[in-house]
Amino acid sequence: MIIAPSLLSADFGNLNKDIEMVNRSEADWFHLDVMDGVFVPNISFGFPIIEAISRKATKPLDVHLMIVQPERYISQVRDTGAFIMNIHQEATTHLHRTVQAIKSAGMKAAVTLNPATPVVMLEDVITDLYMVLLMGVNPGFGGQKFIDQTVAKTRALHELIQRSGSKAIIEVDGGVNINTGALLAQAGASALVAGSAIFKADNPSQYISDLKRL
Ligand code: DX5
Ligand code: ZN
Repeated sequence: MIIAPSLLSADFGNLNKDIEMVNRSEADWFHLDVMDGVFVPNISFGFPIIEAISRKATKPLDVHLMIVQPERYISQVRDTGAFIMNIHQEATTHLHRTVQAIKSAGMKAAVTLNPATPVVMLEDVITDLYMVLLMGVNPGFGGQKFIDQTVAKTRALHELIQRSGSKAIIEVDGGVNINTGALLAQAGASALVAGSAIFKADNPSQYISDLKRL
């Protein structure tokens, strides 16, 4: 299992400490949540912070853009050193073009689906994607309750991927903890994002190791 801690739940007053914890842990990627106050009802952080994190992080960055028209920022995201540029299907009109542009810029292309967006919306681009991210909550905030339907949706996406011959990884984000993570692993997820479950744990590094074993 690939584990991507979401720094949205980290201590922003002492980010170095949490970055170091993730660097030393068994986590695989840093998950960075960018929010524009338009696509989602919240604003998080932008490029100066991503660049600062990038300088300290020793693991690849999975940059999750919860912003409208993410195609406007492809080169800026690339310049932060991002490994994965993760955009929402609902946020870009010409998804195919945007996916190709992300790949041409040298990044892995990932597409995220909100809870109300069915997996069939990706049927015609699935073989072009490195990863699909299914939201387990409506995006915008950490610490929300997991939407149970996401487990069945993970299974449906797994079937679509098998049927199409795509090599896309399934990642799930929102409401992930050791219990929901176990159900998602069984349903075919191979990457898990967790924010509050990790950073509110008594021993965050151990919690990452526990998720890793799912
Ligand atoms: C939600 C973000 C998530 C969030 C997850 O809008 O995309 O990455 O940080 O937080 P938890 O794990 O607390 O649900
Ligand atoms: Zn996220």
